[in-house]
Amino acid sequence: AIDPQFHENRDQVDEHEGHSVWGPVDEPEELGIHGTHVAVDFDICLADGACVEDCPVDVFEWIDTPGHPESEEKADPANEAQCIDCMLCVDVCPVDAIDVDAG
Ligand code: SF4
Ligand code: F3S
Ligand code: ZN
Repeated sequence: AIDPQFHENRDQVDEHEGHSVWGPVDEPEELGIHGTHVAVDFDICLADGACVEDCPVDVFEWIDTPGHPESEEKADPANEAQCIDCMLCVDVCPVDAIDVDAG
């Protein structure tokens, strides 16, 4: 499962489409965590798609990640600022790849 303390345990190593990327990153096998308020651990995501289908405000967009061992697509939290903290995505992800800080 994604580490809910990732912002303390990891370093912000990059930005992608306006959100943070938390390392380590070693493409294409290791992609890190995308997002901060809505954080997706790309190294855990296996492209189930439930988050993309169920988010009521379309926070997620598919991006291609060819060569990643878990899946060649990831749910990117492209619109994390729109999140309404409903926690559906956290509940439906079968591999607990998503953390939403509703704090
Ligand atoms: Fe979308 Fe709700 Fe997840 Fe926020 S908590 S990203 S609104 S499903
Ligand atoms: Fe990935 Fe989980 Fe969404 S596996 S596509 S983050 S439901
Ligand atoms: Zn991203």
